[in-house]
Amino acid sequence: MSTPKRRYHISTIGCQMNKADSERMAGILDDMGFESSEDPNIADLILFNTCSIRENAEHKVYSFLGRQVARKQEKPDLTLIVAGCVAQQEGETLLRRVPELDLVMGPQHTNRLQDLLEEVFQGNQVVATEPIHIMEDITKPRRDSTVTAWVNIIYGCNERCTYCVVPNTRGVEQSRTPDAIRAEMEELGRLGYKEVTLLGQNIDAYGRDLPGVTPEGRHLHTLTDLLYYVHDVSGIERIRFATSHPRYFTERLIKACAELPKVCKHFHIPFQSGDNEVLKKMSRGYTHEKYRRIIAKIREYMPDASISADSIVGFPGETEEQFENTLKLVEDIGFDLLNTAAYSPRPATPAALWDNQLSEEVKRDRLQRINNLVSIKAAERSQRYMGRVESVLVEDQNPKDNTQVMGRTDGNRLTFFKGDISELKGKLVQVQITEVRAFSLTGEIVPVRETVLVP
Ligand code: SAH
Ligand code: SF4
Ligand code: F3S
Repeated sequence: MSTPKRRYHISTIGCQMNKADSERMAGILDDMGFESSEDPNIADLILFNTCSIRENAEHKVYSFLGRQVARKQEKPDLTLIVAGCVAQQEGETLLRRVPELDLVMGPQHTNRLQDLLEEVFQGNQVVATEPIHIMEDITKPRRDSTVTAWVNIIYGCNERCTYCVVPNTRGVEQSRTPDAIRAEMEELGRLGYKEVTLLGQNIDAYGRDLPGVTPEGRHLHTLTDLLYYVHDVSGIERIRFATSHPRYFTERLIKACAELPKVCKHFHIPFQSGDNEVLKKMSRGYTHEKYRRIIAKIREYMPDASISADSIVGFPGETEEQFENTLKLVEDIGFDLLNTAAYSPRPATPAALWDNQLSEEVKRDRLQRINNLVSIKAAERSQRYMGRVESVLVEDQNPKDNTQVMGRTDGNRLTFFKGDISELKGKLVQVQITEVRAFSLTGEIVPVRETVLVP
């Protein structure tokens, strides 16, 4: 009888970058002969991939670990790992507070999981948080979807927004080479994937750290050049990218998106605040006028483009009037989607130390007001889909109604319609929209008519 495989369980919170990291670590564990398990309580190895963007992050880690630490008392060979941004931020502090941990590893060490585990299996407790050059991943990620996939193109962040932990947790920018990116996309195309989302914290900063300049003095490798370079990868029918920073968003990039049919007409460009004083205190490096010009340019080239963003309310010292400038920006632009958050002071960030913090009550009130406006504007934006025929890439069954399938429009609106998932998964189909809501749509598949040649 063969010995049963050791099982691993991965729990992930945080952004797409973290989810992509978890898929790569799952691939490494598969490669090492482990088997994945949904249930943490029967696993032999637990990996918690953490996020530190807002408060309570550390607290969540300790409460998640509590139960597993108790299990380890009965099962001493249980391996406990904390990865991701809290691991990077807290480092050895985590080991001191939870001595049962075997491995604490920052995001830059994702692709080294096998080496790190080998040290653990030799009986060591390991902390891997030093900055390193990120190696190319030679294993295959275990991807959650068989239709859409993430492809990292740039790691880290070189900005210094005064509220944000990411530069501390993810390190300096490191771009992958265009060839490595294209090779990964070609493999995805061969495996039957239809959509790729290129990922980076500031994706439009791609290539600044790669060698080479053009005769005009531009970087040789930019996101714009990369889009042209990977556009013809066969099998891949849609390309998305996120997140864009207004500081690096160029007209050249906008033109490329308009020109390249596979690039989805959806742009995620966080503005954070609609007030210039606040933007300056955040160290964002642009004004609301510049942000508005970027959106106007996008709409000039692609009138139907979807625009989404992130925004923070209740930044230290933000006055009622400054907050209203943010509302005005939301009102004027009319976002298809806006991720909003109340400012949260974070360890080792400048703004957390300022003495002009706002009360929780003011932050809560502003968050509620902006969210009301966001729903109204998103519902208005959804109206334009009514009656239209949209291309939808079918991803899955509707978990709430198994007679329906779901997918996304080019502009990233979630769309439901009647259909059989076994027939439609991974297909781009034409759907006539019959019902619109603020953040999703319902429609009916448009039958493809056979062309009959009459002699
Ligand atoms: N690199 C991207 C965003 C990365 S973090 C950019 O620069 O736009 C994702 C979002 O989390 C941010 O856009 C911001 O809106 C939010 N965020 C980051 N730090 C925060 C904090 N301290 N409090 C509240 N929200 C925060
Ligand atoms: Fe954080 Fe600013 Fe970097 Fe975005 S650009 S990850 S908000 S520091
Ligand atoms: Fe969170 Fe780290 Fe992403 S802090 S949002 S997981 S970069």
